[in-house]
Amino acid sequence: MTRYAVFGQPISHSLSPRIHAAFAAQLGIDLDYRAIEAGRGAFASALAAFARDGGRGANVTLPLKQDASALCSELSDRARRCGSVNTLARAGDEWHGDSTDGIGLLRDLARHGIETRGVRVLLLGAGGAARAAAFALADAGARELVVMNRTATRAQALAVALGTPARTCDRDALQREPTFDIVVNATSAGHAGDVFAWPLAAEATPTACYDLSYGGAARAFLAAARAAGARVALDGLGMLVEQAAESFALWHGCAPDTTPVHALLRAEA
Ligand code: ATR
Repeated sequence: MTRYAVFGQPISHSLSPRIHAAFAAQLGIDLDYRAIEAGRGAFASALAAFARDGGRGANVTLPLKQDASALCSELSDRARRCGSVNTLARAGDEWHGDSTDGIGLLRDLARHGIETRGVRVLLLGAGGAARAAAFALADAGARELVVMNRTATRAQALAVALGTPARTCDRDALQREPTFDIVVNATSAGHAGDVFAWPLAAEATPTACYDLSYGGAARAFLAAARAAGARVALDGLGMLVEQAAESFALWHGCAPDTTPVHALLRAEA
């Protein structure tokens, strides 16, 4: 039985073992995928021990996505560009790193019929999750990406890295912005239970709002989006399933059908 794992801290809540077990059952693949608790100080040695024990692939979540890239001998273009790794694949004695978060977001938006080509996007946040979302949306043909972040210098750095069609905007100026097609919340504020202050003017109702988090962490943003009149307000549970499917395909060479797994997790949410 081949070994896979997700590393992070905290990790006990992770749905990844269940998602990968469901994909494996669907395709008749025998695998052992478990959650391994590791903070930043312990990650390198935990990953080395996992490799010694026959680990073939790993997912990486908070707070390890940036650290993971430093442990890889090779990175995919998309991982290098967004500066974060969520998927590790063993190749000989080395790890190859990839980032499937961005494609996971695009696939979930597509599943919901949300157009990304030619749209105006407001991106809240400029950390690792925001970077993955931003590059994917730019690649998918977004016409304009406006980045707003609590720390303005991080927003500027992301906009510079993205180049056209990105720019930054501060909270005051956002009040004067016309309607966005999509608002993406990529901040981690919801995890701390912080209050979410809706940043747009009352008349600037976006078509779709998407929180990269799910569960309680997405609740405040989604409530604010619905109150602002957004036609669609989605959490990141679908993105989680889609990014897992892309990792699974990289490791096993076959793509699972995500539809039953979306249904399974939604039924329990
Ligand atoms: P992740 O990998 O989840 O993106 P991160 O790289 O630590 O985590 O980034 C967290 C993001 O959430 C950042 O954009 C952060 O803003 P700062 O750059 O100013 O730190 C944002 N964030 C976290 N808590 C926030 C809060 N209470 N209000 C607004 N933004 C917040």
